[in-house]
Amino acid sequence: MTKSQSIGRRLTLLLAAVAAVLSVLSWAMVTVLAREATQRTQDNVLAASVTTIAETLRSEQAEVRLELPYAAFAMLGAISQDLVFYRVTANDRTLTGYDDLPSFETGRQGQVMFHTANYRSVPIRMAATTRLISVGDGQTQVTVTVAQTRDGVGAIAADLSQLAAFFSLAFFAVAVGLSAVVAATSLRPLNEIAAAVSRRGPSDLRPVQRNAPAELAPLLTALNRLMDRLRNSIRRSEDFITEAAHRIRTPLATVRAQAEIALRTVQGDTEKDRLRQIIRAVDESSRSAGQLLDHATVAYRTENLTQDRLDLSELAADTLAAMEPTASMRDIRLRLDGEQAPVIGDPILLESAIRNVLDNAIKYSAEDTTVTLHITCSDSETHLTICDEGPGFGDESFDTLTERFRRGPNTGGIVGSGLGLTIVAEVMAAHGGRIELTTSTHNERGGACVCFTLPSA
Ligand SMILES: Nc1ncnc2c1ncn2[C@@H]1O[C@H](COP(=O)(O)OP(=O)(O)OP(=O)(O)O)[C@@H](O)[C@H]1O
Ligand SMILES: [Mg+2]
Repeated sequence: MTKSQSIGRRLTLLLAAVAAVLSVLSWAMVTVLAREATQRTQDNVLAASVTTIAETLRSEQAEVRLELPYAAFAMLGAISQDLVFYRVTANDRTLTGYDDLPSFETGRQGQVMFHTANYRSVPIRMAATTRLISVGDGQTQVTVTVAQTRDGVGAIAADLSQLAAFFSLAFFAVAVGLSAVVAATSLRPLNEIAAAVSRRGPSDLRPVQRNAPAELAPLLTALNRLMDRLRNSIRRSEDFITEAAHRIRTPLATVRAQAEIALRTVQGDTEKDRLRQIIRAVDESSRSAGQLLDHATVAYRTENLTQDRLDLSELAADTLAAMEPTASMRDIRLRLDGEQAPVIGDPILLESAIRNVLDNAIKYSAEDTTVTLHITCSDSETHLTICDEGPGFGDESFDTLTERFRRGPNTGGIVGSGLGLTIVAEVMAAHGGRIELTTSTHNERGGACVCFTLPSA
């Protein structure tokens, strides 16, 4: 499966990109506003300055007189240390100030106009106003112009812009962090569903019942439908196996009985040998059919596990009693020692697991030996160990022996299908237990030990 880019990372990157765009926009906005605000401040002071000067204009002895008020320039010095220039003209004749200060269109009388120009190669902001002064018989148009360089206000605007850049960066960093949190939070339901499904055992095909967000509901429905189909399909094949095993076992029993009768009546060694081979093949098939039936039952019951509170030592004693006739045919003694061991589980499945291990112990041990069942129980775990005095598991690993239809190299002529330990492993897994195959330390010849560990009830 190719691993495509993670949704979480993609979401974080997308949100971070949006945050970056917003940060740049807010920085640009603050910069423009700062420039505009400082410009207006300077304009207002320039306007106040020209108006103050214009108000001092008067006529005296047929001449225009003015006093340059100190306050008119002091207020300009208050906003920045920029250079200030001024000029007062009467009918285009300079009365006082900088004669070479650029002129520009002035408005109606009393109205203040603004202009930006270069003066002595430095950008300046200018404000001008006109006033009509009655001088003698006529009227003189007096224009008052005040200008100021723009370094100071530019610096204030640049400072504000820098501050805005810092805040935008901080905003961006916080937004990226929050984006990661948002992405993780939005994906949590999806991860929770994935975790719930992956925590399950391999045969747990129950529907996933969770409160999923609306967006995930179709996915969950599809998943549950798939599980449903899978469960039905497994159920059908298990049913088929059960049915097939039943159908095979009955005619096999007839064939075996007939072969036994024939074996007693025929004379020739070759014929007897052939009949023995037939009987063995029938035994193998019959064993396989029986184990398949057992396996199908286990598969079905693990899916709908019964959770009874039961005593494992009682169950072991019952199973032991049922196996007693088989064991006594080979002069094998079955011994049980153990205390009461309450566990929660399915009695039929646990019985099947114990029976399969006991069957192996009896089958693979030499005659006139002992098979011991030992049960110990603690608060958290219950151990059931079944040890025999046979050849042991040899070098075969647990994983290999629990594979379906896998038999060890030590089986010789012993009939078997290779499903016994598969059944045992599945039963243990369904009960949340585990199984260990070891070599017995109780006798010098070794022997196989199978240990079940189940959670105590
Ligand atoms: N007590 C034992 N002593 C020695 N070998 C064992 C013992 N139990 C199991 N084995 C080995 O593990 C293999 C797998 O055991 P399993 O019970 O799964 O299959 P089986 O006994 O061969 O067939 P069946 O399905 O009929 O039980 C056996 O073939 C055998 O080689
Ligand atoms: Mg077996």
